[in-house]
Amino acid sequence: MKFIIYGAGALGSLFAALLSRKHDVLIVGREKHIEAIEKNGLIVEGITSGVFHPETRWDGSQYDLIILTTKAYDTSQATKEARKKFGEIPFLSLQNGLKNEEKIAKIAGEKNVIGGITNHGVTFLEYGRIKHAGYGETVIGEMDGRVSDRIRKIAKAFNEAGIKTMVSEKIKEEIWRKAIINSAINGLTSILKCKNGELIKYKNLVKEICDEGSMVARKEGFTIENAFEKTMEVIERTADNYSSMLQDIMKGKKTEVEEINGEIAKVANKHGIKACYNIVLTKMIKEMENVGTQVGLLVIKSRRGP
Ligand code: PAF
Repeated sequence: MKFIIYGAGALGSLFAALLSRKHDVLIVGREKHIEAIEKNGLIVEGITSGVFHPETRWDGSQYDLIILTTKAYDTSQATKEARKKFGEIPFLSLQNGLKNEEKIAKIAGEKNVIGGITNHGVTFLEYGRIKHAGYGETVIGEMDGRVSDRIRKIAKAFNEAGIKTMVSEKIKEEIWRKAIINSAINGLTSILKCKNGELIKYKNLVKEICDEGSMVARKEGFTIENAFEKTMEVIERTADNYSSMLQDIMKGKKTEVEEINGEIAKVANKHGIKACYNIVLTKMIKEMENVGTQVGLLVIKSRRGP
């Protein structure tokens, strides 16, 4: 198959690398990242290691799927740009946050949106270089629950490239589960400034945040079973990763807290309840963004060589 990875940061670059083993992949991202890939290849370290060579310039040919991996606050803008450039191709969102599919559908039309989640842990080391720090499964699904031919084809293509992928008939539930996982892991690691694995010491807090998110999801009609157990599993598998939110904070960048914890708090509010953990996490992390915390950047840049 022919895939466009649109908005390649850490996770998008990992997908570009893995998919390029078996498929045609065009990677679209920040110019400095693309230039580094053109110069040295896309360098992946960690549990996947190698130098990969996805296409970096579009040759005008038709692609099958745009995999959107931008930050959630950029979804609408990125969808508009990608659609203008590449025409009417379906989008698969592998982003964090709750509203991406709705935003894409508004621009590209409902039939051109596929939902997805992935639990890989990936750290952006520098332009052209990422670290695959933890395995996780990927789940994709049609928004209306049908198991369509295109969904089967995409899952097969991902699995062939070594990306363990399942098809779900309840992708909206999976997206909620992922948002709850992120609300606990990304929220807490950002405040505590630690790798995901450190959260094993904060099980009680993780559980309370997961319970709160599950309660809000239930109000929306989604039963999220075992959110805490699933979150602990992701923590263990991505123990060596810095969550994407903490990576953003360490770089002084805007985070996805509004689209994750903020959105859970908003939905709770709509149902007349207060999601206290999510409210506090959102407020604290927004404040940290304003302060522009730069600590820890050197820790994240693992050194090359001995
Ligand atoms: O956003 C992230 O960092 C990731 O979704 C995950 C799975 C929590 C791993 O760090």
